[in-house]
Amino acid sequence: MLSYTLLVNREHPLEPDYIPDDLVYVDIPFHAPHDSPKRMLRRQAAKAVQELFHRSIEMKVNLIGISGYRSYQRQQQLHTGSSYVAPAGASEHQSGLALDVSCPAVSLELTEEFAHTPEGKFLHDYAPLYGFILRYPQGKEKITGYAYEPWHIRYVTKSLALYLSLTGMTLEEYHAI
Ligand code: DAL
Ligand code: ZN
Repeated sequence: MLSYTLLVNREHPLEPDYIPDDLVYVDIPFHAPHDSPKRMLRRQAAKAVQELFHRSIEMKVNLIGISGYRSYQRQQQLHTGSSYVAPAGASEHQSGLALDVSCPAVSLELTEEFAHTPEGKFLHDYAPLYGFILRYPQGKEKITGYAYEPWHIRYVTKSLALYLSLTGMTLEEYHAI
């Protein structure tokens, strides 16, 4: 099984046949069909995201899961060449460690406006405490190779998430050390 801190991007793609063998359904509010693979993440990431959402509910913010695991084949169908959607193999969603999150205030859309909602601010501030980073920050587009995505979180373990959030480094910069 691949490492939780693995770098996945256009230069470091996953193998077409890579499917994590520890995918589980995530028990959080989701906007996706009941049995959709979108509702799955690797076991440790699923547990962490459940704890993150539990905290969000305590703090009365209304996060909704939109899309977690995505197969290589599904990514192939989605890829249109835009800077938002990764080519097949280059998407963290294939790793089972990434989740897109939204909220009713932005009609459950994946939009930059999400960053200005209480939910987006909560995600930014609290995700690292549970092992997640906001993977595509504003101002780092040239380094990550992707547009700003305040809704996309990636599980990297708690220690690395805290290190990256405190230093402001991306996963690319960390792997280049
Ligand atoms: N939107 C991100 C980059 C993806 O497609 O994985
Ligand atoms: Zn995403």
